[in-house]
Amino acid sequence: MSTTGPDSLVIRKPDDWHVHLRDGDMLRAVLPGTEAHFGRAIIMPNLVPPITTVAAAQAYRDRILAARAPGSDFQPLMTAYLTDGTDPDEIARGHAESVWVAAKLYPAGATTNAHHGVTDLAKIRTVLERMEKIGMPLLVHGETTDQSVDIFDREAVFIERHLHTLLREHPGLRVVFEHITTQEAADFVSGFNAQNPGGRVGATITPHHLMINRSSIFQGGIRPHLYCLPIAKREKHRLALRKAATSGDACFFLGTDTAPHMAHLKEAACGCAGIFCAAVAMACYAQVFDEEGALDRLNNFASLNGPRFYGLPVNTTMLTLMRRESVVQESVTVGADKVLVFRGGDTLGWSVES
Ligand code: DOR
Ligand code: ZN
Repeated sequence: MSTTGPDSLVIRKPDDWHVHLRDGDMLRAVLPGTEAHFGRAIIMPNLVPPITTVAAAQAYRDRILAARAPGSDFQPLMTAYLTDGTDPDEIARGHAESVWVAAKLYPAGATTNAHHGVTDLAKIRTVLERMEKIGMPLLVHGETTDQSVDIFDREAVFIERHLHTLLREHPGLRVVFEHITTQEAADFVSGFNAQNPGGRVGATITPHHLMINRSSIFQGGIRPHLYCLPIAKREKHRLALRKAATSGDACFFLGTDTAPHMAHLKEAACGCAGIFCAAVAMACYAQVFDEEGALDRLNNFASLNGPRFYGLPVNTTMLTLMRRESVVQESVTVGADKVLVFRGGDTLGWSVES
């Protein structure tokens, strides 16, 4: 970590452009971690069952609002879960009524609760055409579901096989390539925008993909709490992501992909994917930007680039980060179980002033 930079950093209050809040007890347990530091968050719709209707999104938003701490002005931004059977009118209605701000494309089976997702992009052609027309962004889980493709190559193969075509066939569609994990993805997004001015492709980058590589998952034994999808890649990809996030390029913005799962479901013979990083995310990002000598760009990445992509005002309040060591909380209790926190028990060099 740099020892010469400032001791504190004031940035505009950030938003988290990719969050899994879940529902019920889990929602109540994890929401405090997100609302403490973020003004707004894009809420992923992969509940069981998924959020596919305007009514379901409205009801879910109400449950999130009801779970907020007293006095919290945190705003959830809802999304629609696309399936092969999605009705373009339902998507357009939810957008017109300001119930959801974007729709999420999960290739069927690509990740947790993605089995109702889209089996073939041709099946949602009319939905995508409508989204192009109304200016509603598509959020993409960019991994091929072809199981014959090596898991570490699935993101790069998705770009080759699907993303190029998607953007060519829908020239007005605004797309967020979610939680990018590879140099190929970072290069694709910045290259696309360089050739196609207007910034219609954005990308979110998680704190964990800036901090861990694929070897971290096997350091001293298998570490199920570092398993997420897309899976962390080789070190050269982590370095490319750090370069992209700290570049100041407006197409890259903050999205933690905080994805809580009960400890026993991760510490299992077939453990599920997802890293819970909500409350520690800002300390992680600050540490990474500090290590890269780019603290002056954290405000853009965390607080300005996302609102600009979504056409929303920036937050009016500020967040203060302190260069002060703090030990990360190990876990959050949910009923009789718990969710382990990313970097839990570790000492980070930055913390959020409370
Ligand atoms: O690791 C992940 N967990 N990746 C996803 O895409 C989904 C998420 C979840 O919902 O648990
Ligand atoms: Zn996610």
